[in-house]
Parts: sequence; C-alpha cells; structure tokens
Amino acid sequence: QAGDDDVPVADVLDLPTDLASMPRHPNIPAPAALFDPRPNSKGFTFGDRPALSKLARAMRNAPEAPTPKAFTKADVTAAMSRAAAAFPAWRDTAPAIRAAALRRAADLLERDRAALMSTLAREAGKTIDDGIAEVREAVDFLRYYADEAETLCASRTLPGPTGESNVWRARGRGVFVTVAPWNFPLAIFLGQTAAALAAGNAVVAKPAPQTPRIAARAVALLHEAGVPQDALILAPGGTEVGQALTADSHLAGVAFTGSTATAKAIARALAERDGAILPLIAETGGINAMIVDATALPEQVTGDVVLSAFRSAGQRCSASRILYVQEDVADRMLDMIAGAAATMRLGDPMDPATDIGPIIDDEALDRLKAHVAEHRPRFQAKAPEGRFMPPTIIELGRNEKLTKEVFGPVLHVKRWRANEIDRVLEEIAATGYGLTFGLHSRIDATIAHVTARVGAGNVYVNRNQIGAIVGSQPFGGRGMSGTGPKAGGPLYLQRFVEEVVVSTDT
Ligand code: SER
Repeated sequence: QAGDDDVPVADVLDLPTDLASMPRHPNIPAPAALFDPRPNSKGFTFGDRPALSKLARAMRNAPEAPTPKAFTKADVTAAMSRAAAAFPAWRDTAPAIRAAALRRAADLLERDRAALMSTLAREAGKTIDDGIAEVREAVDFLRYYADEAETLCASRTLPGPTGESNVWRARGRGVFVTVAPWNFPLAIFLGQTAAALAAGNAVVAKPAPQTPRIAARAVALLHEAGVPQDALILAPGGTEVGQALTADSHLAGVAFTGSTATAKAIARALAERDGAILPLIAETGGINAMIVDATALPEQVTGDVVLSAFRSAGQRCSASRILYVQEDVADRMLDMIAGAAATMRLGDPMDPATDIGPIIDDEALDRLKAHVAEHRPRFQAKAPEGRFMPPTIIELGRNEKLTKEVFGPVLHVKRWRANEIDRVLEEIAATGYGLTFGLHSRIDATIAHVTARVGAGNVYVNRNQIGAIVGSQPFGGRGMSGTGPKAGGPLYLQRFVEEVVVSTDT
C-alpha cells in the first residue's frame, strides 16, 4: 500500500516528470548523522542511543577541569624564552618521533573523550553531537599532520647536473604562536598546534579567553603523549596576551583563527616588527551563501539548510548566513525550513535530546538580538530562559544586502528570478569573503556554471555546507576569509617550515 513516502517527487514539486527520475542525492541528513564515518578516526565510534546515554552520564560525572590562570606580560616573556630554548632539540628530533607523540595524543583524546566533551559542553555549550564531531576532528588533525610531517620533513637528495650532492630538507622555523577561537576550542586549537609541532616548531598556544579549560586539557594530553613541557606552553589570556606574544622577539610565525579584523591587526603587528619577515596563517569568517534553484529537492534542502544555519547555534565560521532561493519555490521552501527549525530543541548541551546549546556569552547574545531587532523576522522559533538564541529567519528585500557576519542561528533569505543566477553570484562575490558556499540544484549545467564561477574555498553541492572532514575536505577560504593554506590539506604544513638546501662538492 502506498504511503506518503511514495508520492512521486514530481507531484510534490510540480515539475516535469523526467526530473523525478533523477537520482536522489544520498546525503540526506538525519539524526544518524551523529555517526558519520570519519576517514582518519580509526576505531572511534560511539554506537547507538544507549551508548549515547552512557556517554552523557560519563560527561556529567566527569570532574570539572581547572581554569588555568591568565598570563601576565611577564609570563609571556618567560614562556617565549623557555619555548625558544626548547626549540632546537624539538626541531632536531626525528620527524617519526614527533609524529609518534601526536599519534599517541590522538589515542589519549579517544581515551578521554567523555571528559573532553564534558568540558566542551560546560565551557563552550557544545551539544553531544557537536562534541563528538569536535573530538573526532581533533583526533583527525593529530593523525593527519603526523602523517604529512613525516613525508614533508624527510630529507631528499635532489638530482641534477651540478656534480655536487644537493640535499633538501624542511625543518621547523622556531617558536610558533597559535591563537585559537572559542567556537572550535579543541579541534582548531589542537589542529593549529599539532601542525606547528609536527613540523618541528616549539609552540606557545593561546586559547580564546572564553575557553581556556579545554585547551589546558588538550595541552596536558600532548605532554602526556611525549611532547616536551617547554616545546608546548599554554598561554591563556585575552587581547593583551595576544599582543605581547606577537611582539616578542623569539616569535617565528603565527597561526590564527578568528575575526578578519584581528587577523589584519596581527598582520600589521608582524609587519612593524624589527628583523625577520614572519609568516601568518589566518583563517577568518565568512558571509556564507547557499543558492537553491527550483529543481532542488525541498526536503533535502530543508535538512541541509537547518543543519548549515542552525546546528551549533550557527556558531561556525562555515555556517550558512544567507540563502538565495529561486522565487518560484521560495514560499514553500521557507515554510518547510521554518517548520523543521521549530522542532529543534534548545537546552542543556549534555542532554542527548538537545539540538542546539547556548550562545557563547551574553555579549554575543546581545549582538544577535540587536541585529534581529533591526529587522522583522519572517520566522523565529521559541527559546527557553537563559543564554539561548532561537533559530531565526530574516527575509531581505531585493536591494538589501548582508554586509557583516552574523555569528549565530540567524538565516537571511533573498529571492531570485530564473535568469538572475549571475547577478546572485556577483552579489556574493561583492561581500569580499569566500569561505563556504552551497548549491542545491538537479541541473548539471547549473552546477557546472555556478561551481566554475563562485569564489569560495569550500563549495558544497546538494548537501549541507558545514563539517569539513580533515584530509578529505581541506578547509579554508580566500579574500577576507583567510590567507590559506587550508587546514587539514596537503599544503598546510608548508607554511610552518623553512627549507634548507645543502650543496656539497663531491
Ligand atoms: N571546519 C568547520 C566546518 O567545516 C568550521 O570551522 O564546519
């Protein structure tokens, strides 16, 4: 007997029947997306719902991590000197031994996942599914950079006509400062730090002021895994600590993730220093767009938009900020998205039933509320008491533009007409950002046209636009979204090393 599920797609969409026979994209999100397989996280699975409840209990029972004390300027100076003293021995440690320490750290993260997820929930409001994804990503980064560094840092004898021995190698530059954001306080914090360490640098690592406890746990695990105490030093604190770190004479480079304005401030500070020209790797924000045309599958778009815009309370640099939906299907699509968003549960991040946790702090929540107050939202879900922001949809007029990154579960929407896709692409390019981009269409020519023109670093077709996988989907943008190279990609480590060629007459 035919049920609702058997209604042909073409009837639902009111489109020509040949579209109905087109294959349905397999990547339809469901709660089971919690268990998405990660290529590098070997043996790291959580099982089914009962296993999740057990994990939630273990998270609640995990003792609270202590808060490390914020650094003074004198602490910064001392830490940079200690790291500089530890650097030569770490640089000269065999790449395989450094890599082994990172792989051991990955195993320790898996061992301590409940405690780590507990701190992620308490300190950063991470739900259980976000916590799982974040621990997995951190594990992936550790294993990926361990593998990459072993290849990159192996010395090579280069061929050629010189009649000499030419030996090329890549080695650590010195003391790298890593500066991490609060929204991925484990994965990005560890990713940047692991890359710098794997390449043979000493590291002084500054977490965001909102999330020092998870960073302290991560650093303790790296030390337990065999990274020398002084080769990796945690430097908790805010802007003043960051400024002291980038001004210190021992500095050899900076890996930063955060706002575009801060990235530019760091670039200026580095340029104004005396002495060497230092590398900066900056990964910043985006005004990430998704385009939906009239051939897209509404239920698939709904799932993907809800995940991309509202999961993690929209506090991802990759999250959808603006949806360009073709006029013909806009009302229906927006009603479905609002309907799905209305069912999302906001609340205690340690409850396995929670979809969306709290906003990071009061200041961020106030900013979001002020932005929404400037518009009349088309839809807003309900939020419980507390530091919560409900999923919100704001429809912009034809001539209205979104010019700033709104870092929360607020999706902006604009409609476009059938022949306007190039105008939409121009509008997206005009933001100056280029981090993630999403497209939903079942027309191959549209997919080819759009993906060839759009200027984002990570382009997602017929799926959601968050959650890049280390090693498979190297992550990072262009323009105001960052300098590259992409995190979790084959070029990332190159910015952390210096090259030397020794040519010897034979
Ligand atoms: N790497 C994260 C993602 O892809 C965002 O920072 O969602």
